[in-house]
Amino acid sequence: MSLLDQLRKMTVVVADTGDIDAIRTHKPQDATTNPSLLLKAAQMPQYQELVDEAVGYAESQKGSQDAKLDACIDKLSVNFGVKILAIIPGRVSTEVPAELSFDTEGTVERAHTLIGLYKAAGIDKNRILIKTASTWEGIKAAEKLEKEGIHCNLTLLFSFAQAVACAEAGVTLISPFVGRIYDWYKKSKGVADIPAAEDPGVASVTRIYNYYKKYGYKTEVMGASFRKVEQIVDLAGSDLLTISPDLLEKLMKMDGTLAKRLDAGAAKAMKIDRVSMAEKSFRWHHNEDAMATDKLAEGIRAFHADALKLRDVVAKRMGVAVSV
Ligand code: E4P
Repeated sequence: MSLLDQLRKMTVVVADTGDIDAIRTHKPQDATTNPSLLLKAAQMPQYQELVDEAVGYAESQKGSQDAKLDACIDKLSVNFGVKILAIIPGRVSTEVPAELSFDTEGTVERAHTLIGLYKAAGIDKNRILIKTASTWEGIKAAEKLEKEGIHCNLTLLFSFAQAVACAEAGVTLISPFVGRIYDWYKKSKGVADIPAAEDPGVASVTRIYNYYKKYGYKTEVMGASFRKVEQIVDLAGSDLLTISPDLLEKLMKMDGTLAKRLDAGAAKAMKIDRVSMAEKSFRWHHNEDAMATDKLAEGIRAFHADALKLRDVVAKRMGVAVSV
């Protein structure tokens, strides 16, 4: 059995891409997209029909040009989600715009719009994870949405404080990033690599997983943002792992024995102190973590920059000028 087949037996394998053909190849249970992946997919020739359909939808809407551009991006995100759901048995994550990262009400409203568009396409909300940044405001938006039965995936998660706050808010799933943590420490140490056994990204997900299982939190842990196979291997046993097509390909071609590294039963027996993250302690502890503070801010900026590029792509298609 390949490493990928063995991994599927202990962890839900998720495809981290907007490329529908790659999802078809790897047959994951779930799939995740983000603004950068959506921008990439929306420029691929084989998906231009989805862009055209979103443009047609937006042009038929009432309102300002800006509102039409928002409508176009929302519809495009949903168009990709609907296509992906036609070929996977599970859930797709659709991200709200990064510019709403500090706007609880705006995030809730945008999530309602996305869920409404999915509903109009015949998709039940249980197959959607609304993805939003793990800021305090994003976590509070997710808390509200979860109470309405809308499930959320809290992304750009780098600190333990973010993970604890998400669990306490009752969110369905978190995406703790591995690769971006690894990138930050590599740069700060001035090294070309950090061996898997000392990988701070792997250590972060392991700590979060053990904490959640120890205290019986239902929030699912989905390790994300991988740079190499070893990071995935070292997190085998996590509830879910979202993996890019190139790493899925590598795992499919590798054999050997895959050991379960994360184990809920073992975590239960660990001595781990319980903590709580009300707003003040969340902000304090997150801010104490320089890596997490840098990476969350940078991640929001980068997703927003890609969202603006996508807005530009669809604006050109609609023949309208983009306001900055
Ligand atoms: C998935 O949810 C994340 O958006 C993704 O894994 C980020 O990966 P990257 O760090 O390679 O951009």
